[in-house]
Amino acid sequence: MDLKIAAQAVRENAYAPYSNFKVGAALRGSDGVIYVGCNVENVAYPEGTCAEAGAIAAMNAAGVREITEAYVIADSPDPVPPCGGCRQKLAEFAAKDVPVTLATTDGIERQTTVGNLLPGAFGAGHMDRS
Ligand code: THU
Repeated sequence: MDLKIAAQAVRENAYAPYSNFKVGAALRGSDGVIYVGCNVENVAYPEGTCAEAGAIAAMNAAGVREITEAYVIADSPDPVPPCGGCRQKLAEFAAKDVPVTLATTDGIERQTTVGNLLPGAFGAGHMDRS
């Protein structure tokens, strides 16, 4: 199964009764396995979680810490870019050159990278004075 099919499939499981905006994310881990996530909203709105965050959590739960490829899909007019928080989350587990495909359910795709999504990302090195 490829990333696109995995992201399309998990998107169907999104729990989005408040926004009615279902998102699916699929990541390939450094072990070659695909990890998926969907957005899970909450009546206390800020408690909702993004699709990317779910996929990152699934990858980490499997003991894998490195993303080699990512795919995000939503039913939007244009490929929806990850929110700011998810860009930082992706940057935690992916090198700058990791490819990210943003897609619509209509079949539009936009290719980018983790580095392009979050130029100047805050990293562990910024806390190191030695
Ligand atoms: N959402 C994601 O899951 N990923 C994104 O990249 C953009 C936004 C979700 C959060 C919320 O459940 C809904 O989309 C509307 O913001």
